[in-house]
Amino acid sequence: MKITVVGAGNVGATCADVIAHKELANEVVLVDIKENFAEGKALDIWQTAPVNMYDTRLRGSTNDYSKTAGSDVVVITSGLPRKPGMSRDDLISTNAAIVKSVTEQVVKYSPDTIIIVVSNPLDVMTYCAYLTAKIDPSRVFGMAGVLDTARYRAFLAEALNCSPKDIQAVLMGGHGDTMVPLPRYTTVGGIPVTELIDSKALDAIVDRTKKGGGEIVNLLGTSAWYAPGAAAAQMVEAIVRDQKRIFPVCAWLQGEYGLNNIYMGAPVKLGRKGIEQIIELKLNTAEMQLVNDSAKAVKEVMSVLDGMNTTTA
Ligand code: LAC
Repeated sequence: MKITVVGAGNVGATCADVIAHKELANEVVLVDIKENFAEGKALDIWQTAPVNMYDTRLRGSTNDYSKTAGSDVVVITSGLPRKPGMSRDDLISTNAAIVKSVTEQVVKYSPDTIIIVVSNPLDVMTYCAYLTAKIDPSRVFGMAGVLDTARYRAFLAEALNCSPKDIQAVLMGGHGDTMVPLPRYTTVGGIPVTELIDSKALDAIVDRTKKGGGEIVNLLGTSAWYAPGAAAAQMVEAIVRDQKRIFPVCAWLQGEYGLNNIYMGAPVKLGRKGIEQIIELKLNTAEMQLVNDSAKAVKEVMSVLDGMNTTTA
């Protein structure tokens, strides 16, 4: 198994580190545009192997994609992160150009790969990779829901003073402030969360989750990396170990939830073939309204990308 992580910044390096720790592959290639940066990060991570007792080999490459040839999974983290006061959508023009050129190189050397996009604005960068890669959407999808549900589950674990391991949740919509955590589909050790917490406290947690990325940007002056990197690595694990895990993933919807031609978060089954099934929940009217509002927001940013493509075609 060979995995490439493009972008050796905080998110990419953390993702590569987690992948190596879990021995998800024989080889991890870290690529970055900045001279010697990926080489340095890969060497540093590789030197933890004797301490942490794994044998995944890490290699770095300065923009030489021939070293990524034959990758089974490629995680794209390239692009600028947010600064305080910026929305994820503010990054669109810079990051679209980057994601487009990265994806071209990726599919040139690994035509059979599965691509996981992490760059922001997430839903639209996933769409950009899909348009560029021209491969089946079951093999091009984005990481957002695993991260967003992780934040939601962490906040709930704190509020309930219980283990985050016991909290299961699903979330839909775009990776932005319109994302839709679904309390009706949230359980704690099998118990509906609504039986354990009052609605006011739950609403506050849902709201904090929606702004969870921004909370960290405000604290750090840049966007998060431990949770995003680990979340992307968990998706890699589901794929390479063919785990058939059920995660919310940014997927290409074609009729599911009455939505068409949109990349947006929905629960899927993730295995060796990538997205093996998109799961349709029986949402009630209020939940569907929130999903539709989120879809509208994502579509608006997707149309900005479509406009850019026509002008640059
Ligand atoms: C976040 C960025 C990675 O949500 O989108 O932290």
